[in-house]
Amino acid sequence: MNIIFLGPPGAGKGTQAQRICAALNIPQISTGDILRRAIKEQTPTGIKAKSFIDAGKLVPDEVIIDIVKDRLAQPDAQQGYILDGFPRTVPQAEALESIARIDAVIELAVDDEHLVSRLSGRRVCLKCGATYHVSRLNGKTTCDACGEELVQREDDKAETVLNRLNVYHEQTAPLVDFYTGRGLLHRIDGAQDMDVIYHSILETLGVKQ
Ligand code: AP5
Repeated sequence: MNIIFLGPPGAGKGTQAQRICAALNIPQISTGDILRRAIKEQTPTGIKAKSFIDAGKLVPDEVIIDIVKDRLAQPDAQQGYILDGFPRTVPQAEALESIARIDAVIELAVDDEHLVSRLSGRRVCLKCGATYHVSRLNGKTTCDACGEELVQREDDKAETVLNRLNVYHEQTAPLVDFYTGRGLLHRIDGAQDMDVIYHSILETLGVKQ
């Protein structure tokens, strides 16, 4: 199954993609994680992307489309995947149509106020991509999965979060209509408990539980 997770920053795309990918045994393809890795390794793409990400802006379409084309051609993506954070603009969605057949788009809907508090408390593992929230860490500062030190993402600082939300409403929200028009969009209330959302996604995808 080829699935897109759509939603504003902090909606829980990464959190749910990790769990659903494990349940379906398919890869999570997060363009944000790919870009953060490229920045850490100081590749030419990473160097180009850094200033956009730090400012809360989108990386140019042509850069991202090339990254996704390469990633979807990898052997592990041939039996399905979850795209987490792509597409984010109508040109990206149009480019995707020429390289992949999408089975479902899951939109996680959460209001802006809720998102600001989620993002300011988020801590991430830059090694394995696991995501946590300070309210559930009980003072712990290392990753449960790999033991690496947890950090706050540069773009989770308050002023950058507001830019990211504006960018979402202006450039990514039109994809809701785009995929509704194709009969692929399923909206799920992303403000619910994480387990409730997880089971709703599996049910929406028709996966037996
Ligand atoms: P990216 O990494 O994709 O960031 P994003 O879309 O802004 O999404 P986030 O990772 O911030 O949020 P999420 O929805 O995954 O939420 P999470 O599960 O972590 O992109 C970063 C940047 O890269 C972009 O700004 C852009 O510059 C660039 N980029 C990436 N893709 C691009 C593209 N296609 N085109 C152009 N540029 C691109 O959850 C957030 C927090 O909430 C966590 O702490 C979590 O524990 C908590 N939480 C999750 N669910 C719940 C729940 N149900 N209840 C309570 N807390 C919850």
